[in-house]
Amino acid sequence: SPAQIQSLLQSAIDFKAASKAASLSTPADLRKKLGVHDSALPQSLKGKSVAIMFSKRSTRTRVASETSVASLGGHPLFLSPSDIQLGVNESLYDTARVVSSMVDGIMARVGGHDEVELLAKNSTVPVVNALSARYHPTQILADLQTMLEVFPTGSSPSVSSNLASLAGLKVAWVGDSNNILNDMLVAYPRLGINLAVAAPKGKAYERDQVVWGTMQDGLAELKRNPTGVASGHVTWSNDPLEAVKDADVIVTDTWISMGDEAQKEQRLRDFAGFQVTEELAKKGGAKPNWKFMHCLPRKADEVDDEVFYSDRSVVFPEAENRKWTIMAIFDRMFGRWEL
Ligand code: CP
Ligand code: NVA
Repeated sequence: SPAQIQSLLQSAIDFKAASKAASLSTPADLRKKLGVHDSALPQSLKGKSVAIMFSKRSTRTRVASETSVASLGGHPLFLSPSDIQLGVNESLYDTARVVSSMVDGIMARVGGHDEVELLAKNSTVPVVNALSARYHPTQILADLQTMLEVFPTGSSPSVSSNLASLAGLKVAWVGDSNNILNDMLVAYPRLGINLAVAAPKGKAYERDQVVWGTMQDGLAELKRNPTGVASGHVTWSNDPLEAVKDADVIVTDTWISMGDEAQKEQRLRDFAGFQVTEELAKKGGAKPNWKFMHCLPRKADEVDDEVFYSDRSVVFPEAENRKWTIMAIFDRMFGRWEL
């Protein structure tokens, strides 16, 4: 819910501030003011173990997950298909039953979304989706934290954690109809953020009907239980120039997600004209101060070096924020078993 997202982001922002302050040997009184006592971070995973079960490659999510468990005082176990039987020599059902009987939480990166649902249904401990073919929820929390940092409110130097301050922003997605976009669709309009999608023509790039239904359910819930922000508008086109008009943020991702490798040549053809460049943004009429975001890993196909390494680009803070948001989720779901 918007309230849960808000509360997780508050923790992520606090953890980041506390960690940075502690690492600068900040005096005890400031650490106390930041809500940190003996350690810079709550030791909510002390004596607990977390299984980080990944069937696909990862840099950011893996490093963020392992270090977050350690920072919260727990023990992470990284388990890949070459380490355990995971779906190779043992069913996911059996794996869920066995692993969840020995750990306090599972962070799972899987292929099909049904796999993470199956794990969650049959585990006795909370399961967090570390990426499935349909969704990548922890990425979108980091993106929200990054936007709060990039678009500060008022003259306060501290980062506002008030999500309402993002309402009215326009985010343009120029790219694939994939897991990252899907989570933006279910999260952003409920927070009042406008989303303009440009995806190529063709069956492979049509909107995911399950996701679209979830987005609409979320908006209906917002109507029943208003949060004070008007829902954001969502538009869908095949035209990057149309999507970037008046955009505050332009976001893209690889054109070839993990699992799509066999379609590489076809995809490179289908995405002609979709590379994010200064020229595209200017021609389409993005706001002069637009920012660039990308979950990484990045290929030059979807965004050129000029944009990717420019001052507009917030991709590296965005990557770092994977850690603080994942830490917030683990603290809450694995440390306290509450959301
Ligand atoms: N953004 C992201 O999930 O990166 P990794 O695949 O490296 O974890
Ligand atoms: N869409 C990409 C995201 C990687 C973090 C993939 O699923 O491969």
